[in-house]
Amino acid sequence: MLVTSKDLVVPARAQGYAVGAFNAVNMESAQAIFGAAEETRSPFIIQITQTTLSYAEPEELFALIVALGKKATVPFAIHLDHGRSFEVCMRFLRLGVTSLMVDGSLQEDGKSPRSYEENVDVTRRVAAAAHAMGVTVEAEIGRLGQISSEADAAEHLTTAEEAVRFVGDVGVDMLAVAIGTTHGLFKGRPRIAHDRLQEIAARLALPLVMHGGTGVPDEDVRRAVSLGVAKINIDTQIRVAFYDAVIAQVHEVEKAFAETDAAGGVRKYDVRKILAPTREAMRRAVMDRMAVFGSAGKA
Ligand code: G3H
Ligand code: ZN
Repeated sequence: MLVTSKDLVVPARAQGYAVGAFNAVNMESAQAIFGAAEETRSPFIIQITQTTLSYAEPEELFALIVALGKKATVPFAIHLDHGRSFEVCMRFLRLGVTSLMVDGSLQEDGKSPRSYEENVDVTRRVAAAAHAMGVTVEAEIGRLGQISSEADAAEHLTTAEEAVRFVGDVGVDMLAVAIGTTHGLFKGRPRIAHDRLQEIAARLALPLVMHGGTGVPDEDVRRAVSLGVAKINIDTQIRVAFYDAVIAQVHEVEKAFAETDAAGGVRKYDVRKILAPTREAMRRAVMDRMAVFGSAGKA
């Protein structure tokens, strides 16, 4: 059931739902994502972000995802998230991703912005190679960031003009736009620029991508999907589920150890005792999002 992201997001935009793109960093998170999709009968995108390179060799995580994919009964794509250089994108292309994001909006440090021309240059080169291999390409124009003032909006939000010009210049399949979301948790209630999204969607038929999906209120998610967002990235919400489950499990273990010690018994150590509940918690968090995105039952 391994497909390209284009095979998933084009029908999603046409039918008014979004496909979730969920970040995996280890076996439990990957298993949780596949498990949630099977239970909800949902197409999905499993993604590895460039920063994972400092934690594990992508070949290792990729092999695990491919092994899980062999048992999948719902369509899914394997995606590189936020590829910031031509070299990194090529490394994941060679690995066999069926979709990738070339994030030319920021320099390789992931912080300082690239110029429009620099963004076009790196995006074009990556798109040419990826398309030659039948791989879907996502790119980004605008700067993600929470909006709390008109100045913020002017500085961050993607304009319809630049979106149309950029897609014309680079020819990608999916476009990530800045509409008031941010990576990680929001400070207070986010302000999603639906009017701006409507302007962009009115002029561009390709599937639009919402980054920073964690913490976006469900009604804003549904509105954005109705306006043309067909891929929604979720990472932090999975991490929060993992942390909450680990903290709860460690407390349980501490209590059990205290009883064992008091009874003069021998402690039993099992990493799976800590990790198994995290897998379940992450699976539930992903299922919750698949329901809100409207992809549940679409497989
Ligand atoms: O590319 C990944 C996402 O944009 C994740 O954002 O951590 O806010 O869910 P998030
Ligand atoms: Zn992102």
